[in-house]
Amino acid sequence: MKFFIDTANLEHIKEAQDLGILDGVTTNPSLMAKEGISGKDQVLKHYKAICDIVDGDVSAEVIATDYAGMIREGEELADLDDKIVVKIPIIKDGVKALKYFSDRGIKTNCTLVFSAGQALLAAKAGATYVSPFIGRLDDISYDGIQLIEQIRLIYDNYEFETEILAASVRHPMHIINCAEVGADVMTGPLSAILALLKHPLTDSGLATFLADYEKAKNK
Ligand code: G3P
Repeated sequence: MKFFIDTANLEHIKEAQDLGILDGVTTNPSLMAKEGISGKDQVLKHYKAICDIVDGDVSAEVIATDYAGMIREGEELADLDDKIVVKIPIIKDGVKALKYFSDRGIKTNCTLVFSAGQALLAAKAGATYVSPFIGRLDDISYDGIQLIEQIRLIYDNYEFETEILAASVRHPMHIINCAEVGADVMTGPLSAILALLKHPLTDSGLATFLADYEKAKNK
């Protein structure tokens, strides 16, 4: 399972990269805005800064919602760095844009996916990744993990190569549940990744080991 970090915060990206387990980064316009990044020039510069930190794929989202605009922006983003994956929303022109980029060997991430039908269209259009937003489904009393399971079944039935990128992951149980049902990738905040480490028995066990080591040394 690949681990992506879902943020535009360079410190968080560096911390996850230093941990040695990071496979990529996802961002979106809201995450960029949260870091105070605005306007085309700043946004492009920031994507480049992210690419310079990480080894893996970096999803960069188009703002345009029409076909020509998505192609123009996507090509500009893809030219920035080999690590860039063009992130495109699952709307009608978005499906056409996914096909355009996949025909040209440019990686894509189909975003804002909330149903199996949308995921099927993304795969048919040749998306590299499909991003079902599981946290936002949970927020409205739908089961986000169930959607991952459904997409897994459909993709396996037809051997679609599109990777299921579970997005809007909020906490460690989301990550574990995604792993159980076979998501290819998960993207979440640093807090959710680091929370996987936590166990009280690890903390107390380590404290005992260290105390015993000190006791034995001072005998
Ligand atoms: O990867 C999608 C993500 O950024 C949305 O997360 O927590 O805003 O639903 P959230």
